[in-house]
Amino acid sequence: MDQLNRYSQPLEHAIANLSLPVEPANLYDPLRYFMTLGGKRIRPVLTLLGTELFDGSFETSIPSALAVELFHNFTLIHDDIMDKAPLRRGMETVHTKWDENIAILSGDVLFVKAYQLLEQQEERHLGPLMKLFNRTAIEVCEGQQMDMDFENRTDVSIDEYLKMIRLKTSVLLGCALEMGAIVAGTDADNRSKIYAFGEHLGMAFQIQDDILDLYADPEKFGKQVGGDVLADKKTLLSLNAHKLANAVQKEQLTVLQKEGDQQRKIAIAQELFITIGAKDACIEVMNLHHNKALEALMSINGNEDIKRQLHAVAEYLLVRTV
Ligand code: IPE
Ligand code: IPE
Ligand code: MG
Ligand code: MG
Ligand code: MG
Repeated sequence: MDQLNRYSQPLEHAIANLSLPVEPANLYDPLRYFMTLGGKRIRPVLTLLGTELFDGSFETSIPSALAVELFHNFTLIHDDIMDKAPLRRGMETVHTKWDENIAILSGDVLFVKAYQLLEQQEERHLGPLMKLFNRTAIEVCEGQQMDMDFENRTDVSIDEYLKMIRLKTSVLLGCALEMGAIVAGTDADNRSKIYAFGEHLGMAFQIQDDILDLYADPEKFGKQVGGDVLADKKTLLSLNAHKLANAVQKEQLTVLQKEGDQQRKIAIAQELFITIGAKDACIEVMNLHHNKALEALMSINGNEDIKRQLHAVAEYLLVRTV
């Protein structure tokens, strides 16, 4: 992906230059470990593109881009505890490799490090940057709590699900882009349009994440395939399956629920959700948000070349395998 590669060197360089202390090793080793596992770095790339879209130089928003990526990594370390996930980016999760207390605290310090990076932005931008970043961080916590609450419920509606993923995932993509736009000094209209692009992109992104969770190639995915089914997550796949199932399939869903063998459970879900048409229904909603994202992008008065690059990022997110 050219757009992701273009910024890869400056971003990885900036991450390597975070110069984390050595001691206490149990606080900083997990951070070094996790931050160098990579990941797609979608959000910081969006911040840098958000700046260039409005004719700023991408170097000026590197601190914001890193802040967003550190915040994202903090949420992943804590999310993996909450989701009891063994694998992340093809490697052991922090709470598995160390322990839960270490994962909680190293996540916390990453969150504060994000603010330290924001200190480096010009003072005139700090007000708007903080306001957006803080609102977003609270929304992500709200989304994550809803996600956890839904595990224990059987009556979650698709509207509630959409609200939940907007909060846990979409707002951070919108925030990443808008922070870039703030640093470029663009007006409120452009800021809200680029945020809307990110929000819809984020909806499509999380729906794709749900699909990949069940259907990705385990060799490439880097996370445990089927983790959402095992945790009884209310994903768009599972909600659509319950909504679209006929009487026989409803019975099969009940049997699935009680299946004790994990690998069998995952295999049955993979097949049943396709037969019911739940996977296709998800792809439809994903494409809808993808198109809405592109509409918002088209309405922006910004650099046309960068618009094309943002379009390419959106296309890539639809076909990604991790
Ligand atoms: C995973 O995000 C968490 C979600 C919001 C779905 P990414 O898929 O961007 O994770 P990395 O950073 O590339 O590992
Ligand atoms: C995570 O959603 C969203 C956040 C971390 C805020 P998921 O739980 O689906 O993310 P993955 O699949 O573990 O990456
Ligand atoms: Mg989760
Ligand atoms: Mg998770
Ligand atoms: Mg997921």
